[in-house]
Amino acid sequence: MFFECLCLLSLGATLSFAQQNCPGYTASNIQQSATGLTADLTLAGEACNVYGFDLTNLTLTVEYQSGNRLHVLIQDQNQSVYQVPTDIFPGPESLPSASASNSNLRFAFTQSPFSFAVARSNGETLFNTSGNPLVFENQYLNVRTSLPDSPNLYGLGEHSDPFRLNTTNYTRTIWNRDSYGIPAGTNLYGAHPIYVEHRGGSGTHGVVFVNSNGIEVKINDTQGQYLEYNTLGGVFDFYFLAGPSPVEVSQQIAEVVGLPANIPYGGLGFHQCRYGYRDIYEVAGVVYNYSQAGIALETMWTDIDYMFRRYVMTVDPDRFPMAKVRELVNYLHAHQQKYTVMVDPAVAYQPNTGYGALDSGIQQDIFLKTSNGSLYTGVVWPGPTVFPDWFSPNAQTYWTGQFDSFFSSETGIDIDYLWIDMNEAANFCNWPCSDPQGYAEENNFPPDPPPVRNSSPIALPGFPADFQPPSSSARVKRQDNAGLRMGLSGRDLINPPYQIRNAAGSLSNKTINTDLVHYNGLVEYDTHNLYGTMMSNHSRNAMLSRRPQERTLVITRSTFLGAGTYVAHWLGDNISDWPHYRISIAQMLAFSAFFSLPITGSDVCGFGGNTTELLCARWMMLGAFYPFYRNHNELGSVSQEAYRWESVAESARRAIDIRYRMLDYFYTAVYEQTVDGTPSLNPMFYVYPNDSNTFGIDLQYFWGSSVLISPVTEENGTSVDIYLPQDIFYDWNNGFTPVQGSGTTVTLYNVDFQTIPIHIKGGSVLPLRARSANTTTELRKQPFQIVIAPGTDGTASGSLYIDDGISLEQAAISYISFSWDGSNFSMNGTYDYSTGVNISQIILLGQRSAPSGAITGDQYFPVAYNSTSQVASVNVSIPLTGDSSMRFGQVASYIGNAFALGTNLYLAATALLLILVAAQNL
Ligand code: NOJ
Repeated sequence: MFFECLCLLSLGATLSFAQQNCPGYTASNIQQSATGLTADLTLAGEACNVYGFDLTNLTLTVEYQSGNRLHVLIQDQNQSVYQVPTDIFPGPESLPSASASNSNLRFAFTQSPFSFAVARSNGETLFNTSGNPLVFENQYLNVRTSLPDSPNLYGLGEHSDPFRLNTTNYTRTIWNRDSYGIPAGTNLYGAHPIYVEHRGGSGTHGVVFVNSNGIEVKINDTQGQYLEYNTLGGVFDFYFLAGPSPVEVSQQIAEVVGLPANIPYGGLGFHQCRYGYRDIYEVAGVVYNYSQAGIALETMWTDIDYMFRRYVMTVDPDRFPMAKVRELVNYLHAHQQKYTVMVDPAVAYQPNTGYGALDSGIQQDIFLKTSNGSLYTGVVWPGPTVFPDWFSPNAQTYWTGQFDSFFSSETGIDIDYLWIDMNEAANFCNWPCSDPQGYAEENNFPPDPPPVRNSSPIALPGFPADFQPPSSSARVKRQDNAGLRMGLSGRDLINPPYQIRNAAGSLSNKTINTDLVHYNGLVEYDTHNLYGTMMSNHSRNAMLSRRPQERTLVITRSTFLGAGTYVAHWLGDNISDWPHYRISIAQMLAFSAFFSLPITGSDVCGFGGNTTELLCARWMMLGAFYPFYRNHNELGSVSQEAYRWESVAESARRAIDIRYRMLDYFYTAVYEQTVDGTPSLNPMFYVYPNDSNTFGIDLQYFWGSSVLISPVTEENGTSVDIYLPQDIFYDWNNGFTPVQGSGTTVTLYNVDFQTIPIHIKGGSVLPLRARSANTTTELRKQPFQIVIAPGTDGTASGSLYIDDGISLEQAAISYISFSWDGSNFSMNGTYDYSTGVNISQIILLGQRSAPSGAITGDQYFPVAYNSTSQVASVNVSIPLTGDSSMRFGQVASYIGNAFALGTNLYLAATALLLILVAAQNL
């Protein structure tokens, strides 16, 4: 019986105002089926109308969608209340085999007052609303679940709060916001109402709440631990995910929100950006300086500086003339490097000036309008601006058209990747923003550009002639500045009765007005949190239209559930300080492991304020283990390109060297995440779910599932306390020497400013490139080196995915599994993609004695052995074209075969050599 009555006692928790006063609902007309149930819910008493008015008739739909997923939807009977449109968030489909009887979850309810619970099939309750009447009003919904004491909760992004969430007196506001400095305790750029609860040995589960209205999640333990959703609209649309392992929860989240988009291999290279590059010469100079410093720069970026007065789809004709920008892009492409620029959604409102992006947007009717039909205007970088309405049926055509011409490979800026920003949407002007022009003038938007210069201030050997400074006699004098679920009517869309703690103030403050009506009739109040993701989707499509055969990489600031299916995300405007360096780890882990958005990273060396040499040196190393690795900072801050200080340059060179050698290992992890949601970054508790010491760890993590990163996290520090679970590890920085973890914290001393502690987890096989390179294109030509790191049981495994790194549809891929059983290394898989390179070396870690040789088929290979680090290695030449195996062992076990013969000859030769040396020394 899976739908039994839940006769739970109220847990006596302090009820919210709404819960104390509202009558809840009564369930009737209960229809059960093999796959779920439906019921009517009727208001159980007099309406409380605490923050609006109560809806009288609701329906409950419960669906067992797979063995591990349960969908619970409570909506208004008429379905007039706004729901997240399915073309933006399609949600998962039920598996044909799904049914209540083969689910690992159970749904139970009480009829009156209605409450429900979700439990594991062993009876363990995961979610339980008993004792808390459901509140469903036109502008406010409330549901509360009781939880075990001090639960291990994670997620509910985007935020910069501790990775394991506070469980007392804690409020998480979800309302996308331009959030300079990413302050803790506030709402940031993205909306991901997903939480993961980890209960150690008894399992991990996840809860996804599909709702795009403003949300406040409150977590507290006043007379009983609870988690409560307060939302300004929408419906209760929950997916409960059984896990039971953390990795399975991530996979199940990906089934709900969508699998992440695949990315170009080159997107994992190192990126350099800043806000405030003065002109194309300065940008070229940065490219040049990186190459001079021997630091591999994959992609050069330009912020809004390239635009004419910060109007999107324009270039500043004096500082970034199109011809010169094109020359630089050609130069980069010729050197296997890439170029990316920023595009904001807001379009400068400069009517009758011949500004194409505005005029064609007006002509195609794609901008948001006010109720009187006039264009809605706010203020962003270029001053007064209008905003695309992504719901307009012409929005895609408009956006693609703009991209096709402005980013044309023939006549425009032939970008490789794209950066989109300010898409919360940000608006500098406070609500009601009645005088955008006045606000822009008063606040100097757009600011005056820097003086023009007509050549680089320094010589750039290798760059086209017109990038060079003129000879002194011809030096040009600098010129001075020239230049059915549409939403209920009758709601207060600006000041709803329930106020969430939006750090920007009222709902419409610093964004576009929440009472605006989109083209299709949806209101901004309901769809605000979708704006950035809709821009992402449109931008991805526009990029794909330019290069239809190729993958793209779009980096966005604002996200919603499922944004990872289109784009990657950088973590916004952090500050150049140690707390922001530290919190970046928790932030990226949340996106990768909980929000199905693997490609993330913070601005390396920090965005706001001035970085320091030490911070930047450490951050260039930590960033090398972000999925998205980009140095970026703010207008006016000190320059922080990695070559500015020799110590930072060296840390960058060393970190990029390691990152690139591991790039195929990580690319494989990202690929696997695109296939089934297995996270490519792992919090420590994902790898050691039964070790409670790992549950709160947020300064160490696994890059992929096998490489433990434990950065130094204190200013000036050269030591770091790291937790090593009961397991065997191998120290990357110490010649792969084995380190036995014992479930305690150990201190690493003398970690210099060019070193980041890295340990390979026992049980892994890592495919590395034998050498790093200056670009990822060159990197792909390097042979592989296979590192076998046996686990405590002596075995190891790993995988390698290879494709061309570029094509949207791959004609051929290789996917190889490696395994080590204690003496035999084997690889099995598919080998359709021709890499053109071989495995050149196999490195076997943790060998207490020297294997006397290695043999594959009838070929014998001598093994080099280092007794201090216990590493054996063998130089080979194994093509990545078919299955193969190699046995390592002692001579005795191979007597009678070619291996023994070869080994004996080798030993004899060695003995002879030793005798000769000894004789010489006599
Ligand atoms: C805000 C973004 O977060 C930041 O990265 C960028 O530099 C500025 N906008 C200017 O475009």
